[in-house]
Amino acid sequence: MIIGHGGNTKGLAEELGCLADEIIDMSANLNPLGPPERIKTVIMENLSAIHALPEPDAGSMTRGFARFHGIDPDTVIAGSGTTWFIYTIPKALDAKNVVILGPTYSDYADACTMQGIAPAFCMARAEDGFLPDLEAVSDMAARADLVFICNPNNPTGVLVEKEFITTLARRHPDVCFVVDESYLPFVEGAGDISLVQDRSYDNLLVLSSMSKIFTIPGLRTGFLSGAKPLVDTVMHCYQPWSVNALAQVVITDIFDHPEQIAPFYEKTRAYIAGEKKKFLDTVTDLKGLVPVPGHTCFILAKLLYHTAPLVCRQVGADRILIRDCSNFTGLGHRYVRFSLKDRKTNTALFRSLEKALACG
Ligand SMILES: Cc1ncc(COP(=O)(O)O)c(C=O)c1O
Repeated sequence: MIIGHGGNTKGLAEELGCLADEIIDMSANLNPLGPPERIKTVIMENLSAIHALPEPDAGSMTRGFARFHGIDPDTVIAGSGTTWFIYTIPKALDAKNVVILGPTYSDYADACTMQGIAPAFCMARAEDGFLPDLEAVSDMAARADLVFICNPNNPTGVLVEKEFITTLARRHPDVCFVVDESYLPFVEGAGDISLVQDRSYDNLLVLSSMSKIFTIPGLRTGFLSGAKPLVDTVMHCYQPWSVNALAQVVITDIFDHPEQIAPFYEKTRAYIAGEKKKFLDTVTDLKGLVPVPGHTCFILAKLLYHTAPLVCRQVGADRILIRDCSNFTGLGHRYVRFSLKDRKTNTALFRSLEKALACG
């Protein structure tokens, strides 16, 4: 669905009567370091690519992704963001009974609604630190044909071990598990958790977004990989030229320089770890805001005495956009989410939150 996402700097700018550029966006979960340096140059040098049709199946970037991960390119599809796959999978697999591990990203449910499916939620509880319960998920999966798992999860930041997912996949061989790893590159030790390279299960599909880690949400690029028969089924719904020419050039270039990817991930993870520690140490002084320990570039926090719309409005008045999580099914109106940036910006957010929470 079109509404209910972060990143609406234009909307806040209109409310405040300023330019969208003057808004600090801490509502969208992007890499605080920004894109790898070469991306801008690659775009500028390849602007003329838009004068020709791109590869209809985005074959070069698909092979680049496959080569990087050491997997068969026939088990990968490139799309215009993982969004394309989220909305296509329920239709392509003709799903009837969908389970979503929540509280989570709302587009899984929206994709189901679009197909006339009323999804069932298996909700993790705040008391359990939002860690999903394996047996509860397994019980519900037994009655499903499709299960969405976001790992690490948006907005809680909670990460489940690989074993959690593979246990489910083994127990329920007839159920397709879609694992959204959009935020996994931000996590230390992601390689041991990712299922992108795992072909031991016939019922696993993995989503890999390029938007978050490379800070290129506007280019709209992402990949689906997994069991070949499932990938082939999704491919039946593929439309030619789903990925635009510039996006194909940029992603192909990224995977043509694999030696630069691991250091970029490492730098990102180290930066986030440092900023997060600093922010969380400071935020303990704030009365009325309790952060949920997570593994990502963003932080979910519970408001003890205030509502999320009120706090977002007050922080918004300082031209800082944070995410009101009221529309995440299962969270209610007391949660906000923000994505850390550089130290100066994070300090500005802290001060703004401090001011908002001091109001009665
Ligand atoms: C968990 C999750 N998955 C997928 C997406 C969609 O990302 P994209 O379509 O840019 O890959 C988002 C965007 O916010 C997200 O939070």
